[in-house]
Amino acid sequence: MPDIQRFACLGKQDTIPQDSGAGKAGRARRAKRGGNPIYPRRAFLAFLVLHASQSINAGGIFQHPATFIPSITIEIPVRRPLIIGNWKMNKTASEAAAFIQDLRERVPASPNADVVVAPPFTALESVRNALGPSSWISLGAQNVHWETHGAFTGEVSAPMLRDLGCRYVIVGHSERRTLFGERDESILKKVRAALRHGLSPILCVGESLAERESGRTESVVTAQLDGSLAGLTPQDLATVTIAYEPVWAIGTGRAATTEQAVTVHRSIRLFIETGWDSKTASTIRILYGGSVTPQNIESLLASDAIDGALVGGACLNTDSFATIISVAQTQRD
Ligand code: PGA
Repeated sequence: MPDIQRFACLGKQDTIPQDSGAGKAGRARRAKRGGNPIYPRRAFLAFLVLHASQSINAGGIFQHPATFIPSITIEIPVRRPLIIGNWKMNKTASEAAAFIQDLRERVPASPNADVVVAPPFTALESVRNALGPSSWISLGAQNVHWETHGAFTGEVSAPMLRDLGCRYVIVGHSERRTLFGERDESILKKVRAALRHGLSPILCVGESLAERESGRTESVVTAQLDGSLAGLTPQDLATVTIAYEPVWAIGTGRAATTEQAVTVHRSIRLFIETGWDSKTASTIRILYGGSVTPQNIESLLASDAIDGALVGGACLNTDSFATIISVAQTQRD
């Protein structure tokens, strides 16, 4: 699980911000109104202190037997933000190389956020070459077939993507579901194929406007998760990322509010906890996607429930994508 920072602390809660702000000023505002978050370094210190006191408690040294309470270690990790640029069907191989060159000049490497670009298949090789061998930006693909090879005209397999340097693959994007008829059953096969061949799947789920308006958001999203993750183990899920992308927000300029996204993210995490376990639920990253821009990224990431973003339109321009990455790099430092 190379991409997940694992720290532990007690009492960390997802928070819905009333306002937002990156850096010190934003943190001061959030602290003033009594909101979490606990930041990585503080979380780690909290863990050390609490772990020490729990160890003493576990030994029962200072307690009368009647009042002895067995210690419970609650592990709540800090999830490093992940920003993924989904290029969709945009940019030729040469445009892609120039774009990456420009992006690398604008954004410095930082351990505070993971960044992935997902160009079309035809540009994967030129993007890999432009990124270089030890880039802090990872390569992802937008789709994968579940078989390794064979008579599947037009398809690309997981070993082929691995061979080109991909580490991630987007699976079940709503455009694939609605325009190409993908169903949870085939999406599950793609998730499994990705995992078998060492690719981290980014599983997309989300409701349509009609589904939201009829109050079915949660049931639609959990049914998609149920169908696309069935039978996976906690070890499998450790390398899966979930992207909540309401269909009505994709490419429309009408992003979900932070509160709307947080509500669904919480129900996704609860679904994972119920279906697997609390450790898996607390470590899996849940991204938001749908009209993410440099203007709304700060508010979205101000909530601990939102672990990053799957960005479409705004990732095609180096200015806007660089800004989104910078916010992710600084907001939870
Ligand atoms: P958008 O696309 O940012 O253009 O809305 C997001 C996506 O489809 O992943």
